[in-house]
Amino acid sequence: MENFQYYTPTKVVFGKGTEDQTGQLVAEQGCRKVLVHYGSGSVVRSGLLERIYRSLDKADIPYVSLGGVVPNPRLSLVYEGIELCRKENVDFILAVGGGSVIDSAKAIGYGAANDGDVWDFYEKKRTAQGCLPIGVVLTIAAAGSEMSDSSVITNENGWLKRGYSSNYARARFAVMNPELTMTLPKYQTASGCVDIMMHTMERYFNRCDNMEMTDGISEHLLRTVMKNAEILMSEPDDYNARAEVMWAGSLSHNGLTGCGTDGGDWASHQLEHELGGMFDVAHGAGLAAVWGSWARYVMDAAPKRFAKFAVNVMGVAPESDDTMTAVKGIEAMEEFYRTLDMPVSIRDMGIELSEEQMRELAEKCSHFGKRTIGCIRKLDTEDMYQIYRAAR
Ligand code: NZQ
Ligand code: ZN
Repeated sequence: MENFQYYTPTKVVFGKGTEDQTGQLVAEQGCRKVLVHYGSGSVVRSGLLERIYRSLDKADIPYVSLGGVVPNPRLSLVYEGIELCRKENVDFILAVGGGSVIDSAKAIGYGAANDGDVWDFYEKKRTAQGCLPIGVVLTIAAAGSEMSDSSVITNENGWLKRGYSSNYARARFAVMNPELTMTLPKYQTASGCVDIMMHTMERYFNRCDNMEMTDGISEHLLRTVMKNAEILMSEPDDYNARAEVMWAGSLSHNGLTGCGTDGGDWASHQLEHELGGMFDVAHGAGLAAVWGSWARYVMDAAPKRFAKFAVNVMGVAPESDDTMTAVKGIEAMEEFYRTLDMPVSIRDMGIELSEEQMRELAEKCSHFGKRTIGCIRKLDTEDMYQIYRAAR
């Protein structure tokens, strides 16, 4: 087992009706004025936003609002939010929504707490020295941003999607009522489940041995999400299935399933981020579309690990050699994605990639030749191109 630090400062308030505690939770933070940040309308339609306002009023918390966050959240709205925070002397941001809203809130928090252009952090030109405190009311189980240290933003200038991580942006609290996710379209529920699984799979595919505890947690988490995702496809209002998936979403990306590992692979996420930036695809769907091609491309570098995944997660009967077992595991995962109506290729998302577009994706993903990605096998620009090609 590798040395590790496990830091999860977020207070989780989980269960039915918990959103009514939001005002009180914000009050405990001792702030003067709150920015309520939300997406493109689902929280207005469901009445959740109104309930949050009432809860803030009850706790005597003054607030201003900024809606309009879109999936693959945009830098332009982040700039708008930063200005609003400065003008209104906001000192706390409440994100009411999913990963996109939370990530946008984190970016606004960085911008408001630091001088200069916030995009510098996402370009890795500077590191942030702070962030406004963030609270979350979660409406979709997916990205895990409610407990993660990261934020992913898309810059419309060049359509670059970039992430920045630091403990400053960890949410102070996350209100998680599984009932709030019952209004999700089926596609978003499925896409969220893929993302949740991928956060553990990215960590599971590492170069370490001997992690009984972490591997066991990871394998069980993955099986739990698969089982409950299938239930939700036919019974979207099943509270327990919603609850299992929601809790798994946070545990999958708060660092738990990476404890004692080398950090994991993460190449599929990097490959997907470029698809999200260029084509605005739902993040989880994009991951499902590239994962199989990534897995086949790198599996020879870690056949034992892939075979373990096949047997312990996908329930495949072991073959006489690890590579054969590994292939069966990859096929079984793709079959599972299909049962959720998730894509297993880029074409499945309605995108016909041209030769130039595949090259452009690889160039952007390698930061124009300046980085490699992945740890199972280090991938350079040409490897990335080959995977996009195989996934197209
Ligand atoms: O904007 P509204 O109208 O709210 O609609 C959203 C959006 O269209 C809708 N939705 C959310 N909750 C709903 C609902 N519709 C009905 N009922 C509800 N209860 O769902 C759509 C997707 O929302 P979004 O926030 O984009 O989903 P998700 O949580 O999957 O977030 C995706 C973003 O997170 C990033 C992704 O790259 C992507 O940009 N990620 C962030 C991470 C992090 N910060 O740690 C890690 C992830 O790997 C990921 O990269
Ligand atoms: Zn993800």
